[in-house]
Amino acid sequence: MPFNPMDKHPEDAQIRFCTGVWELYDSAELPPKSEIELDLGCGVGSYTALLAQKYPERKILAADVMLGRLRKLVKRTVRMKIGNMTILRSEARFLVAVMLPDNSIDRLHLLCPDPWPKDRHSGHRLLTSDFVSQLHRVLKESGVFHFSSDDEPYYAAVRRVLASSGLFVEEPGAIADLSGIKSDFELRWNEEGKVVRHIAYRKIPRPAHIGGH
Ligand SMILES: C[S@@+](CC[C@H](N)C(=O)[O-])C[C@H]1O[C@@H](n2cnc3c(N)ncnc32)[C@H](O)[C@@H]1O
Repeated sequence: MPFNPMDKHPEDAQIRFCTGVWELYDSAELPPKSEIELDLGCGVGSYTALLAQKYPERKILAADVMLGRLRKLVKRTVRMKIGNMTILRSEARFLVAVMLPDNSIDRLHLLCPDPWPKDRHSGHRLLTSDFVSQLHRVLKESGVFHFSSDDEPYYAAVRRVLASSGLFVEEPGAIADLSGIKSDFELRWNEEGKVVRHIAYRKIPRPAHIGGH
């Protein structure tokens, strides 16, 4: 009998493997004007699940590159009876730069991403000026970007990149509804006595003098 990975991991039937050009969602899946939130690098996704539970009328996209973490999230969504989440296995840059259509996301969360603190690894960081340009492209008009980190230098670098982009304005109130929800890594860092800072930005129109992508 041929080996079928689904026999061992039935959760995989609930994970979309984003390896080619793919429509974000079938329009039949979503009522018009639905709000869509993306948790990029969701990990095992406690935060994502609570977000989906809080806003059952919204579509929540949960993306991570690590399959084992996504399988845990699938089990969590079953336990919590969550029906408004789509789970995507994808590399984050690929998802944002290639897969997501223009103006498709209302709010994008990037929570406690790996900070790559060593200088020689800083190129691995997700949040760079190139990424900010793609972020601007995929967010809907007035869409929101939400970032958190326990790593002071990364947090400061992200603020510098966003401020100098001319594409976003800081708006802490844009995540006021989520102040009681903590991600798995935020909880972990808090247990170690580390503070996790959050920041939110709203997309503004691209100024005429800043070129397109
Ligand atoms: C430190 S964990 C944070 C997880 C979650 N956001 C939280 O706050 O609990 C970083 C997550 O990002 C994922 N990740 C790292 N680089 C990625 C990439 N290039 N594309 C997609 N996911 C990535 C990892 O697999 C991991 O689950």
